[in-house]
Amino acid sequence: MFLEKGQVLWNKKLCSSYFKLGLKLSGSFYDAKPGQFVMLRIDERIAPLLRRPFSVYRIIEGRKGVEILYRVVGEFTGILSGIREGECVDILGPLGNGFSLPKKDSRVFIVAGGIGVAPLVFLCSYLIVEKGYDSSTIKVFLGARSKDDLLCRDDLSSLGLEVAITTDDGSEGETCMITSPVEAALKKARPDMIYACGPSGMMKCLSEMAGDYGVACQLSMETVMACGFGACLGCAVESKDANKYLHVCKDGPVFDSRDIRF
Ligand code: FES
Repeated sequence: MFLEKGQVLWNKKLCSSYFKLGLKLSGSFYDAKPGQFVMLRIDERIAPLLRRPFSVYRIIEGRKGVEILYRVVGEFTGILSGIREGECVDILGPLGNGFSLPKKDSRVFIVAGGIGVAPLVFLCSYLIVEKGYDSSTIKVFLGARSKDDLLCRDDLSSLGLEVAITTDDGSEGETCMITSPVEAALKKARPDMIYACGPSGMMKCLSEMAGDYGVACQLSMETVMACGFGACLGCAVESKDANKYLHVCKDGPVFDSRDIRF
């Protein structure tokens, strides 16, 4: 775990309220694995001790730093969206455990809801580009509220991935929850592993499906975090073991779906 000042290389608006933030960093961050996250702090313009967690979306080419994909949802991300090239933010990381990789030639389903796509794009790219996995063994399911919230389709298609799309309002793809095409695909042929990140309702449903169909499933959980390394105990989620809590920052953020009680 490293703490340093990252210089903003870009902070680009993508569409509606989504941005990509590129940060120039030292070598310590380049070994970040898919599923790991960083905590950002934006100087004294906001509560000075407050940091916010963001999944690593990409290691910038040439190992210059890391890129983060974020949505403006409140005061912190509102201020973050106004930060300009050349300014600096405090960055702590890489944090958390990251995804466990499947065996070579495994069939994999990747299920992303909204901004939950960020760590999964990193995972896809890592599997295909870094580890030489065959893109035809990976099927991606991408769901969002509407067309404007569908992110990273170009990243996924440039990796040669097949992507099934759903939106809640029918503005693109099928009009249904992303779990519907996942279940249809599970009925046809079970994969060896499901990787998912998205809203809690989606994760709960996938966890149940994975149990019903007997498929291993890794979930990258999103919660409120204050410290990011196990000190504040503010990121607890209920474990399947009675009376036990898991901490998303320290025990996760990636969990076996069988370990979490929704
Ligand atoms: Fe502080 Fe997890 S965020 S313990």
